[in-house]
Amino acid sequence: MSDLTVRRLLIDLQAPIPRHWCGGDAFRTALFNALSMSFPVGEQFFIDSVRNGFKLLPAAEQARFQAEVQGFVGQEATHRRLHGLFNDHLEKQGLVNAWGPRALKRMKLLEGLDPRHAVAITAANEHFTAILADWILRNPDRAASDDARLTTLWLWHGAEESEHKTTAFDLYQALGGTNEWRLKWFRRTTFFFLADTIRQTMNNLAHDGTLWKWSTWKSAASYLFGERGLVRQTYGPWREYLRADFHPRQQDSSAAEHWLAEHADSYVPVGTAA
Ligand SMILES: [Fe+2]
Ligand SMILES: [Fe+2]
Repeated sequence: MSDLTVRRLLIDLQAPIPRHWCGGDAFRTALFNALSMSFPVGEQFFIDSVRNGFKLLPAAEQARFQAEVQGFVGQEATHRRLHGLFNDHLEKQGLVNAWGPRALKRMKLLEGLDPRHAVAITAANEHFTAILADWILRNPDRAASDDARLTTLWLWHGAEESEHKTTAFDLYQALGGTNEWRLKWFRRTTFFFLADTIRQTMNNLAHDGTLWKWSTWKSAASYLFGERGLVRQTYGPWREYLRADFHPRQQDSSAAEHWLAEHADSYVPVGTAA
């Protein structure tokens, strides 16, 4: 089991954030803003799914998972609170979050289903966040901002995603979830995650007035597919989830460990669920 520390980040998100906060680049900023817009609703779903799955475990298994689930919930709750503050600034900039309400509607379709489906969806999304996190932690210049608060916010979130990447997966297995359904939900999650990311990024660019600028599309092409490109470098790790014997622990998390060790002055641990 993982020891998950809940950390209070020592940044103040009250002051406004620059319009193109990510490297002065409209595309990068719109992409990260889109992801941030999905977090409050998405991370609440992960918390609820893991809590509901935990309740279904036999008592002995609950004892084994208790501390880790508590740490997972604490970390995700902190993420959604800080991204909520971040998103308030986006709203003031005139951006419109369509992803959150759309995801909420989709979640309603799961009501009344076996709670293991929601845990499988959470595990699939956590694979996405873990590989994205590892990518930004290995290429910190790609998520960097001249506003140091924002670089810290994104890399801290990434580090904790990497740190708790096994929780939902292990819970799904402990609940007797099948591989068949794990893969079914992974494929569906991939479709929705990509479609939602593209839609919301374009929506943000449209509201920003930069959607039809040549520089935006040029930046998108090199950011996604160029050398050290996001899609280019995460496709392999994404695909590994399809293997029948896959476990998230098989993928390296050392970039997150290094970041947390080197930036201990950026946060205060508020609880170790060990
Ligand atoms: Fe998170
Ligand atoms: Fe997470």
